[in-house]
Amino acid sequence: MTDDRERWALILGASSGMGEATARTLAAAGFNICGIHLDFRAGLAHVAEITAAIEAEGVQAIYINMNAADDEKRASALATLRERFDASRAAGRDPFVKVVMHSLAFGSLVPFLTEDPKAGADRKKMEMTQDVMANSLVYWVQDLWRGGFLGRGSRIFAMTSEGSSRVVPSYGVVSSAKAALESHTRQLAMELARLGTGVTANTIRAGVTLTPALMKIPEKDAIIEAATRRNPTGRMTTPQDVAGTILALCGDGTEFINGEVIGVDGGEFITGS
Ligand SMILES: NC(=O)c1ccc[n+]([C@@H]2O[C@H](COP(=O)([O-])OP(=O)(O)OC[C@H]3O[C@@H](n4cnc5c(N)ncnc54)[C@H](O)[C@@H]3O)[C@@H](O)[C@H]2O)c1
Repeated sequence: MTDDRERWALILGASSGMGEATARTLAAAGFNICGIHLDFRAGLAHVAEITAAIEAEGVQAIYINMNAADDEKRASALATLRERFDASRAAGRDPFVKVVMHSLAFGSLVPFLTEDPKAGADRKKMEMTQDVMANSLVYWVQDLWRGGFLGRGSRIFAMTSEGSSRVVPSYGVVSSAKAALESHTRQLAMELARLGTGVTANTIRAGVTLTPALMKIPEKDAIIEAATRRNPTGRMTTPQDVAGTILALCGDGTEFINGEVIGVDGGEFITGS
């Protein structure tokens, strides 16, 4: 049976890295894109390039510069999306959010144990990182589900890393957020299935990928060296590897993949040295 609903992708973190690549790839496949991002003025020209490229595919692009963890801004962004949905319905179309991607990189990269308390993890850094990089997924999905944006066949993807189960000196705060994000995604997968929604939720564990987020990690040089050495393909993961996987996981016959952590890394994780 053909599905002629109007497909939208809501991408949290859509102006760079994996989120940008996925926005461009899904747009080329006919998805309309609602992209949430947090950029200073210097980054806005790049955002304009992305939206122009998306619109050149003949689909709609809504890009909103905001903190994805802000409750009021989330409500306002969803009101904007609802206006587009209302306009589509008035024109006889049947829109739904086919893809939700959580691809936010915004965390404190500091160790727990530092002589100077200001240089180490504290409650504010822990809570802010957890809120943006993990808990925000739950709040977005709650509002999308309650607001009727999701439909049978919708797919939720959250981005995790090997750092959710490995230790790196500066990554402790983010690591705990990644572990929580994986847990939140499993919980959503189970609840959405039990409610009979036909919506799935999975976590994508990307290999080490050259993006601005990676370049902020103090141990980046050692991480890149290890990834290049360990990856049996001889190269690192690219944002396009992730984007292509997400498009494939939107295809027919994938609806029973649910609550999983799916590696997209060419075999980097399984290779010890
Ligand atoms: N780069 C890697 O090696 C790697 C590996 C595995 C997983 N990941 C994960 O993939 C996700 C995307 O990472 P990336 O490397 O593509 O990062 P990136 O820095 O290229 O992109 C991050 C995006 O998040 C947006 N953003 C950050 N904070 C935000 C906030 N508070 N509100 C709204 N938007 C915000 C930015 O504007 C940008 O669009 C992250 O969760 C990251 O931890 C990255």
